[in-house]
Amino acid sequence: MNDKKRSIEEILITFPSAKRFSLAILQEVQKEYKYISPDNLKAISNYLAIPISDIFSMATYYKSLSLEKKGEFIIKVCDGTACHIRGSLSVLDEVKRALNINEGETTPDGLFSLEIVNCVGACAMAPVVICNQDYFGNVKLGKAKEIINSCVKAVD
Ligand code: FES
Repeated sequence: MNDKKRSIEEILITFPSAKRFSLAILQEVQKEYKYISPDNLKAISNYLAIPISDIFSMATYYKSLSLEKKGEFIIKVCDGTACHIRGSLSVLDEVKRALNINEGETTPDGLFSLEIVNCVGACAMAPVVICNQDYFGNVKLGKAKEIINSCVKAVD
């Protein structure tokens, strides 16, 4: 696993200093750090010369952005209609037990965060679990640990 993260300055320098790039910068910072820290909010605000309250509003508006530090691996259990009908809540319970956390929480070692999401557009393979960019479909009970392990292995 590569732990070397780009600094906020290295990220900012890849964007022109213009307000219209606010969201793109926030998304890039989110991707790199898995959240937007107060220091990074300030750095973005300074770089774009716009009030920090504007950056903060944007960071809280978009669901894909977080002001809280998340795990290295973000596990999302889809609970849209198709997944719900096919037992997503039982899958969720199993993932919760495997990680020993509830939805919206991060494991104490900072490795995993667990989220419930709405339809991710893969209903044909419901129920669906996503770990970072990897989709796992037709998830059967008893597979939670396997999914978690294969997700970790994918980046080793
Ligand atoms: S409801 Fe889960 S992918 Fe559509």
